[in-house]
Amino acid sequence: MTDTASGTPLRGGQIRRPDAMVYAEAARILRAGGLVAFPTETVYGLGADATDDKAVAAIFEAKGRPRFNPLIVHFADAEAAAGEVAFDTRARALAQAFWPGPLSLVLARALGCRVSLLCSAGLATLAVRVPKHGVGQALLRAVGRPLAAPSANPSGALSPTTAAHVAESLGDKVPLILDGGPCPVGLESTVLDLSGADPVLLRPGGVTAEALEPFVGRVLRADQDTDIKSPGMLTSHYAPDRPLRLDATDVGPDEALLAFGPAPLAGAARTVNLSQAGDPVEAAAGLFAALRALDRPELAAIAVMPIPQAGLGAAINDRLRRAAASREG
Ligand code: TXA
Ligand code: MG
Repeated sequence: MTDTASGTPLRGGQIRRPDAMVYAEAARILRAGGLVAFPTETVYGLGADATDDKAVAAIFEAKGRPRFNPLIVHFADAEAAAGEVAFDTRARALAQAFWPGPLSLVLARALGCRVSLLCSAGLATLAVRVPKHGVGQALLRAVGRPLAAPSANPSGALSPTTAAHVAESLGDKVPLILDGGPCPVGLESTVLDLSGADPVLLRPGGVTAEALEPFVGRVLRADQDTDIKSPGMLTSHYAPDRPLRLDATDVGPDEALLAFGPAPLAGAARTVNLSQAGDPVEAAAGLFAALRALDRPELAAIAVMPIPQAGLGAAINDRLRRAAASREG
């Protein structure tokens, strides 16, 4: 593989600020069946040509991802997405309101869908999304094909919100990482299942369930209201190596503190405050970077102060609960 700008070989995990030459190189790699990591407004994705079985298989390989866990496919615009799935009136209303943006819709595959069956992992459905980030958008337009892209981390690890996070954990598996700076949302997209009669929230994320309801009526919660499970939620996820202690009201000198709000607990070995102002949007943007920074081998645990459920708080608490639970099971 060659760096078109300098003519020198691309090393694995090469981080590049994208310009026209870099987009052209990224598109070339993707059309040849290779992997390129790129930023979206939520987290960095590990992208491959979604219409190429071998390229999609390479994603599962690089992440060590179980084959039963399907992938989200990214499109440049709603029209492109609508051609591959049964895009009903609910999907149209949501696309109009939230795309481009942090919402993934699970819909039945259309007859003649060109997306690799591997992306559906044996299901009759496909998750589709139109990302908002300028770099993700420019890449999708440069390659001219839909991109399958899970979060660019080894399966079960924290999602990356910077190019450096990707390089640290998957650098040797991906030749090119497009650097778009820190992801502005910082939490993965909301995954909404529209393949049945009632909309079901499979994963809380960048768009709150309350924001969806004016467009599609009551949204059922997969964990509370239905037997439906998101395949990706069956495995442990979003886990740092240190155990997490939720709803902490005190903290020890051998612990890290993930604080929230104007009055962080005193006495921790190391503290990161997600939002001094108590703003869930600011807290979401910094969550994964904070967990990485606090996940130090010399510390016994990460104590987490309570975070209100309002707005993005629901998605933040979902990720924290999963990270804590993966230690127990
Ligand atoms: O924000 C995001 O969604 C990021 C960026 C890169 O777009 N991607 C992401 O992908 O978080 P991933 O693979 O880490 O998480 C996708 C989630 C998984 O829980 C998966 O099981 C679920 O979406 N999913 C994908 N396709 C599905 C389908 N057809 N039916 C049900 N769940 C699906
Ligand atoms: Mg993921």
